Amino acid sequence: MSGKAVAIVGMQWGDEGKGKLVDYCAEKADVVVRYQGGNNAGHTVVAKGKKFKFHLLPSGAPQEKEIVIGNGCVVNPKVLLEEMAMLRAEGIEPKLRISSTAHVIMPYHLLLDGMEESHKGKFKAGTTRQGIGPTYSDKAARFGIRIWDLLDKDILAEKVEKILPLKQYMLSSLGCEETLDFNAIIDVYSDYGQQLRSYITDTATFINNCLDEGKNVLFEGAQGTLLGIDEGMYPFGTSSNASALGVPAGTGVAPTRITSIIGIVKAYTSRVGEGPLPTELLDEVGNQIREQGHEYGTTTGRPRRIGWLDTVAIRYAKMVNQPNGVVVTLLDALADINPLKICTAYEQDGELVDAWPIQAEILAKVTPVYVELPGWGSRTEDEWLEIARQQDMDALPQEMRDYLAKMEELIGIPVYAVSIGPDREATINIKDVF
Ligand code: IMP
Repeated sequence: MSGKAVAIVGMQWGDEGKGKLVDYCAEKADVVVRYQGGNNAGHTVVAKGKKFKFHLLPSGAPQEKEIVIGNGCVVNPKVLLEEMAMLRAEGIEPKLRISSTAHVIMPYHLLLDGMEESHKGKFKAGTTRQGIGPTYSDKAARFGIRIWDLLDKDILAEKVEKILPLKQYMLSSLGCEETLDFNAIIDVYSDYGQQLRSYITDTATFINNCLDEGKNVLFEGAQGTLLGIDEGMYPFGTSSNASALGVPAGTGVAPTRITSIIGIVKAYTSRVGEGPLPTELLDEVGNQIREQGHEYGTTTGRPRRIGWLDTVAIRYAKMVNQPNGVVVTLLDALADINPLKICTAYEQDGELVDAWPIQAEILAKVTPVYVELPGWGSRTEDEWLEIARQQDMDALPQEMRDYLAKMEELIGIPVYAVSIGPDREATINIKDVF
């Protein structure tokens, strides 16, 4: 019998707490797969009494699971080697496979990311400057370097020789004074290839074989649905499909093999970078949630923008992902906020709309309509842990249960689990995903 294939996806603008949940669910998985994005992501996992921050490696890594970087990802080999070394320093040998067809973030992509952003003015996305967009652009233009190309110096040199003059021209015309050194790039990147050689393989065949053998596979989304290149708020997002739609294309696993989809919903809204955010809180309440939720970018350290929970946006993410259930995270970060607000609909030109507008220019003009609910005061981290140990939703404060019930009613997806603290133990599980 085929194994289970479960996808975990962010239902908002990223940073929903996917790392913790992937780590939590990875216990019952045999394989954990990243299917899109690169080291623009930042997943914090607290495991084995330690805090791990991953940008590229799948979050199942500390549990010594088989981990896969799929073909839909873009890879900065330097970052990857550093994260592998970090795991080894903890006595964990990464059981890693990297798709030979994943694309490589090259030095010119890093430079172009910054230069293009500066050029875009008000249309800039506020990228993480990790070269993600320029690498995916080259992939689509069929001008990219794939991981496999790093294994043969001659092949790499032949391709880079064609690409470099064009990139140099683009950089110079955008005002960049840096000169790209052909020989240094070939030496450094073919050395990366040698260091990664034993991990590079046909991951689509590997994952499909695992499923054929009855193994459980967890697909770990990075960013969030509303940042996706096709499904998100263009152009204020990232360059890959950050929803469940990205799983088949980014792994070579057919849509019919995916057995369930779990959406991760943060109890409020956050985002980094530019673009309209209807429920944004630019006041003390926003600051308080930011501090309580430690809402600073894992990759960039930037303070995240904070807003009330937006169920119009989540209903759209529901349509795109069709999740079987959601996990609600960071409820503890709403401590001492009273009243709490949930956006139920938008007002646009005097009319009530409950559909996501798709276009950023329209989203910028809507006014959120809210329902107010009482807050639940505060608890210490230990008190939350004590509540979680009971594994019973009735142990949660009544106001929190009311908040969750309202949310469930507004988004129409059952809550499978709630997270009330950063530790793996601070989770109340209602329904197993495997
Ligand atoms: P890029 O992915 O670096 O090109 O950035 C594009 C947009 O996506 C920017 O608004 C970033 O702040 C945002 N972004 C990229 N990765 C993440 C993430 O992991 N969490 C939240 N936002 C992200």
